[in-house]
Amino acid sequence: MGHGFQHIFGISRLAYFGGAVFAVIIILQYFEFPYGDVISSLFSASKIHISYGTNRTSSNCTTDNATTTLTSPQILLDSNMSETYKNASNLVHNFTKNESPTRDIFPSVNLSAVTEVHRKKQKVKVVSISEMHDILIHNRASSHPMKSLWTSRADQELLNAKLQIENASFNEDDRTLYPSVFRNISKFRRSYELMEKTLQVYIYKEGEKPIFHQPEAVMKGIYASEGWFMMQMKSSKRFITKKPKQAHLFYIPYSSKLLKATLFPNSYNRESVVPYLKSYIDMISRRYNFWNRTGGADHFLVACHDWAPDETRQFMGTCIRAICNNDVQKTGFELGKDVSLPETNVRYRQNPLQNRGGNPPSKRSVFAFFAGKMHGYLRPILLRHWENKDPDMKIFSKLPKVKDDKNYVDFMKNSKFCICAKGSEVNSPRVVEAIFYECVPVIISDNFVPPFFEILDWESFAVFVPEKDIPDLKNILLSIPKKRYLQMHKRIKEVQQHFLWHVKPVEYDIFHMILHSIWYTRVARVM
Ligand SMILES: *[C@@H]1O[C@H](CO)[C@@H](O)[C@H](O)[C@H]1NC(C)=O
Ligand SMILES: *[C@@H]1O[C@H](CO)[C@@H](O)[C@H](O)[C@H]1NC(C)=O
Ligand SMILES: *[C@@H]1O[C@H](CO)[C@@H](O)[C@H](O)[C@H]1NC(C)=O
Ligand SMILES: *[C@@H]1O[C@H](CO)[C@@H](O)[C@H](O)[C@H]1NC(C)=O
Ligand SMILES: *[C@@H]1O[C@H](CO)[C@@H](O)[C@H](O)[C@H]1NC(C)=O
Ligand SMILES: *[C@@H]1O[C@H](CO)[C@@H](O)[C@H](O)[C@H]1NC(C)=O
Ligand SMILES: *[C@@H]1O[C@H](CO)[C@@H](O)[C@H](O)[C@H]1NC(C)=O
Ligand SMILES: *[C@@H]1O[C@H](CO)[C@@H](O)[C@H](O)[C@H]1NC(C)=O
Ligand SMILES: *[C@@H]1O[C@H](CO)[C@@H](O)[C@H](O)[C@H]1NC(C)=O
Ligand SMILES: *[C@@H]1O[C@H](CO)[C@@H](O)[C@H](O)[C@H]1NC(C)=O
Repeated sequence: MGHGFQHIFGISRLAYFGGAVFAVIIILQYFEFPYGDVISSLFSASKIHISYGTNRTSSNCTTDNATTTLTSPQILLDSNMSETYKNASNLVHNFTKNESPTRDIFPSVNLSAVTEVHRKKQKVKVVSISEMHDILIHNRASSHPMKSLWTSRADQELLNAKLQIENASFNEDDRTLYPSVFRNISKFRRSYELMEKTLQVYIYKEGEKPIFHQPEAVMKGIYASEGWFMMQMKSSKRFITKKPKQAHLFYIPYSSKLLKATLFPNSYNRESVVPYLKSYIDMISRRYNFWNRTGGADHFLVACHDWAPDETRQFMGTCIRAICNNDVQKTGFELGKDVSLPETNVRYRQNPLQNRGGNPPSKRSVFAFFAGKMHGYLRPILLRHWENKDPDMKIFSKLPKVKDDKNYVDFMKNSKFCICAKGSEVNSPRVVEAIFYECVPVIISDNFVPPFFEILDWESFAVFVPEKDIPDLKNILLSIPKKRYLQMHKRIKEVQQHFLWHVKPVEYDIFHMILHSIWYTRVARVM
């Protein structure tokens, strides 16, 4: 759901949250506890939420209170969670469906209202790519997770790796990597080698399908990164250990897409899934001592759904979160601790490499291209300025649906610049698509942290245009000298290997890069 819509229609997210928490409490109270009076007092508290739409700061019925109720041991150990939550989701839906302002219910966009929100949004500071990097370095140096309660051999190995990465030097004979797309090729190379040599990941066995342990269901479409990662992680002989005491990292193998689809298919309330995940963390931290040892700092998750940052912020916020939706000013994304996961739109499950590549620069006849649904506030602004305004600017709303998205793909293969304008959230599958079809990405999404941010020098192969400069878009692109354009195009081809899924993972591919970013982050933060 677009951030902007909540303001337009004057309904705060917390209103739903109140409703949802209330609903879940009622269900659990009803089935698990005999406290009728608690129900009625919560009922009136929630009523206030709904009718006045109070927000997080002014809320009286706090999340903490609600979830404390939810996660009492009784429920965790005895109840069948998926059953309980299915019932809860039903009730939540009934509770909120008449108020849900979604693009499906309000399909037509009011441009002036949208622009108003956009103007308001400009008050949020726009963080440039180089500022983001400064924050990352600062966070690395100053913010450390709590020290492990006791040290393990794995900690010692991580510390050794840290020293060796700082002391790295590059082997000039290396032909598999292209230094110009990296921030520091020496460090990356050394860190990657050490990962290959050292890293052991323990995957928790707990968790019910389909939400946990079922990657097969998320192998196509725009959330496929989480399915492919889970699939390849689970079948990795090299990186998995069955002995958690030897592990450097612990993987929480859940799918954010299936979590939402299974429990709350009709809900728009992101926090509705929080208690479910909290129960899981409570369960593993009671059953084993690994979570408590580091307070979660050596645990990680890989999640691509829009909801992932909100659903994990509170109780999994200490983990390394590899997430697609990473706005550096929102959703608690923490540079230097969280990791930007590439959003990949996998069209062919059997062969994700099918149809890769595009024309050489001289044969790219379209100057700039965009097509997509009118999600969020920004795209309507893009279209208002550029749709049917200039023959060089092929800016459309959604193209007619054809087999294999042929029109869309042909544009990507034949355009010099591919516009990646944010939708409801900062991330868009277009960024990786552009790289896949060898089109130079033009990212218009303030505060979006691009994938593998800590490793790649994004400004060497992509263009970042501030949202406020949409009216100048064409001039900005025209001002890029031809020589510079050709260099960027070449680099896109050089960086491409790091964004490709292979049915069987290969060195430096996207699977290894995601794992590497998590490893690199853990190494940097070990004490
Ligand atoms: C939330 O409530 C506080 C206190 O009532 C108010 O100052 C703030 O502007 C509200 N925030 C939003 C986003 O409505
Ligand atoms: C919140 O609690 C305070 C005091 O505890 C009370 O005065 C206020 O009316 C409450 N607000 C709502 C919206 O219930
Ligand atoms: C929340 O919990 C705190 C501490 O347990 C308590 O003082 C407060 O009254 C609770 N609030 C609600 C709305 O239950
Ligand atoms: C929980 O309920 C689901 C759906 O009814 C069922 O398929 C599953 O086997 C149950 N799990 C347990 C552990 O009872
Ligand atoms: C869920 O609802 C079904 C009927 O709608 C009921 O049979 C079942 O017991 C409920 N399960 C739980 C755990 O509340
Ligand atoms: C929700 O509403 C549907 C139909 O509107 C109804 O069948 C269902 O029983 C309701 N669920 C609950 C838990 O009230
Ligand atoms: C569009 O939004 C503007 C500004 O909020 C408002 O004045 C106008 O009435 C809206 N138009 C429609 C058709 O809703
Ligand atoms: C750093 O590199 C130098 C020169 O290659 C080497 O002598 C030294 O032992 C290295 N230090 C560490 C901690 O690896
Ligand atoms: C890359 O990192 C290494 C190791 O810390 C350092 O010696 C080198 O100067 C760095 N190179 C650049 C270009 O920053
Ligand atoms: C971990 O900490 C939690 C909260 O303090 C506690 O409830 C749990 O029992 C601890 N787990 C273990 C295995 O000691």
